[in-house]
Amino acid sequence: MAFLSVLTPVLVAVLCGLVALLFIYPRKTVTASREQTEGGSKAESKRASNGRPWVDQDLEDDTEVTAKDEEEDDWVDSNEENIPHVPYSPLRYPVEKMLERSQEFYALMNQRRTVRFISPEPVPRDVIDNVIRTAGTAPSGAHTEPWTFVVISDPETKHQIRLIVEEEEEVNYRQRMGDKWVRDLAKIRTNWIKEYLDVAPYLILIFKQTYGILPNGKKKTHYYNEISVSISCGILLAALQNVGLVTVTSTPLNCGPQLRLLLKRPANEKLLMLLPVGYPSSDAMVPDFRRKPLEDIVLHI
Ligand SMILES: Cc1cc2nc3c(=O)[nH]c(=O)nc-3n(C[C@H](O)[C@H](O)[C@H](O)COP(=O)(O)O)c2cc1C
Repeated sequence: MAFLSVLTPVLVAVLCGLVALLFIYPRKTVTASREQTEGGSKAESKRASNGRPWVDQDLEDDTEVTAKDEEEDDWVDSNEENIPHVPYSPLRYPVEKMLERSQEFYALMNQRRTVRFISPEPVPRDVIDNVIRTAGTAPSGAHTEPWTFVVISDPETKHQIRLIVEEEEEVNYRQRMGDKWVRDLAKIRTNWIKEYLDVAPYLILIFKQTYGILPNGKKKTHYYNEISVSISCGILLAALQNVGLVTVTSTPLNCGPQLRLLLKRPANEKLLMLLPVGYPSSDAMVPDFRRKPLEDIVLHI
């Protein structure tokens, strides 16, 4: 008994210590995780208030990373070393004709505007196919052609896309973009409501393939895939302009993973651009922008 009565204060002290630990530890964890979350969102809003755009992580080009991290055996080198070279002699125009053509093409492209009011009027499918064929003529790093164009005309799929984009865009406008970006957009009067995603006869989603997958499952490096696909998108915009169709060049922030899953695209494909395509609606309006004159954009040395 004497032994027990000596031990009792020690036991009580140990028990008190345990109870105190039980109370303190979870609180510390909560505080730490709250600090982490607050720190994260503070960093995000600081980035936004600095005027630096919130970066779409899904778009990170992981070509180099993946090439380094994965087993050497998963990757192949080019197997096209012996490709024949053939003569190339395209049309050559007299100088006056060149001038005339350059002016005409400039006049055509200078008419191009981003149009957010698109008519539901059907557009021939063959025209869209030719526009995409044209986009597929773009140059690409080591001729890897790292693009996939997903053309959607199915109304239900278009609507699913609208739901995804509008949900993310609302968060973009309210939280991710920050005051400066939202103010900069005020002049073009956009918000997260994207009616044209339901209305336009076609949505073209352009994916960049961060690496290629060969029929034998091996991976192939796609050099400069984002630059290559961006050039292809530029040619696509010119091809649309050439046939009198309009679009909205859009890069829906943070929608890539959901849209990729919806469209069942593989993980090596990242959404680069979403283009609703159609005729302009009869009451379409655009901001009255002026373009920089030549002397402000060119430097001859
Ligand atoms: C990379 C890129 C992303 C764009 N993203 C959007 C967008 O998400 N929503 C939108 O309405 N317009 C978007 N635009 C269109 C621009 O607002 C438009 O090009 C600009 O205001 C100039 O107008 P213009 O195309 O009529 O010359 C984007 C343009 C580019 C090049």
